[in-house]
Amino acid sequence: MAGTTTSLDAFKENHESVSVDASRKLRVGIIGTGWIAGAHMRAYKNQPDVEIVAGADLVPGKAEAFFKAWELENVKCYPSHKEMLDDESLALDAVSVCTYNRQHAEPTVYALKKGVNVLLEKPMCVTTEEAVEIVRAEKESGKVLSIGFQPRMDENMKMIKKICQSGTLGKIYYIQTGGGRRRGIPTPFGTTFIEDETAGIGALGDIGCYSLDMVLNAIGYPKPLTVSGYKSAYFGTRPGYYPDHPEYADKFGVDDFAAAFIRLEGDIVLDFRIAWAMNLDTPGDTIILGTEGGLRIPSTECWNGTVGGEMTLYHEVAGLQTETKIPIVKTPGDLFDLKIRTFLDACKFGTAAPVSSAEILYNQAIIDGIAKSSALGREITIEIPEV
Ligand SMILES: NC(=O)c1ccc[n+]([C@@H]2O[C@H](COP(=O)([O-])OP(=O)(O)OC[C@H]3O[C@@H](n4cnc5c(N)ncnc54)[C@H](O)[C@@H]3O)[C@@H](O)[C@H]2O)c1
Repeated sequence: MAGTTTSLDAFKENHESVSVDASRKLRVGIIGTGWIAGAHMRAYKNQPDVEIVAGADLVPGKAEAFFKAWELENVKCYPSHKEMLDDESLALDAVSVCTYNRQHAEPTVYALKKGVNVLLEKPMCVTTEEAVEIVRAEKESGKVLSIGFQPRMDENMKMIKKICQSGTLGKIYYIQTGGGRRRGIPTPFGTTFIEDETAGIGALGDIGCYSLDMVLNAIGYPKPLTVSGYKSAYFGTRPGYYPDHPEYADKFGVDDFAAAFIRLEGDIVLDFRIAWAMNLDTPGDTIILGTEGGLRIPSTECWNGTVGGEMTLYHEVAGLQTETKIPIVKTPGDLFDLKIRTFLDACKFGTAAPVSSAEILYNQAIIDGIAKSSALGREITIEIPEV
């Protein structure tokens, strides 16, 4: 990176007080060296207090090739998370869990039980039961567990939360959220997103988790009570969807569209829809309705959890119905750098995880509730055991 301006440099330029003590380096391992592991590596390389010491992947030779491509020597490679975490000579401080969804819970719980801090990619896992097991392991370990929702670092997301928490909207009673892509089933690097045995959930978990987090985080993550959910797979199962890989259609074992009506504690209802593929540009903006105001958050064409443009606040001023435009602001720094930096700081200083698993447990319970309700064809109560 010599001679270039890193994202961390940009972050520092905007936050004069930020200084990273590089005298003690955190020893970090990467579990799963696929697509997203590259984004973690880039961000870790921007941090002056990190040493990447180990990596693991189930595919023979994949971890070795990954670190070679990143020009990192002396990184020890293992055939799975277990062998890596069993090697106490590594003295790991933290791991990034970058495996596919069905392999989120096991490595995370194993790492926490070994006393290692964890940054776990989104969605948290596949089922509510797995999410509960993860949160329990975190509590018992006393270690930091943060879930990889980088949109949380976006200043516009923070603004949505500030507006909701400020009371400007009054009592919030109805929320519509979701997002979609006209054609956007993620298969650029193979089929791990679309096979049931690796992904477990499709659009519902992959991008649905972002829509849910956008609004639930803004209103303080009320407990979900009931859900009537629907999911389908009309696009991913068509051979013609993948001109270069018609065989992917037979492998498609998850959803490419989901919709739900969810009741939340505090007499709030949430209307949700998400699509990896559909015959439409966007399934609609996110709207938050309150007794004193309403907020419209434009969607993006290819939904990835970001605010699509200037937001509008609908309210009354001295009895006059009026609209206030909330401009898009630039986040100082790269969202992935911020996700990694805030996690590292929580590990170093023993502070709260930037994205708390106790909150994302509710996000996961909604996702799992939609899947279960869809299978039953009726509304269900969302059961979340005490952790
Ligand atoms: N935050 C984001 O913006 C973002 C973007 C893309 C993907 N993701 C998430 O990251 C996760 C991984 O996605 P990906 O595209 O990198 O998948 P991928 O299939 O490219 O990579 C996953 C890798 O994990 C390995 N693996 C699985 N179980 C393992 C285990 N127990 N031990 C060691 N290695 C194991 C697999 O062999 C594979 O190489 C998904 O859950 C996805 O939702 C997040």
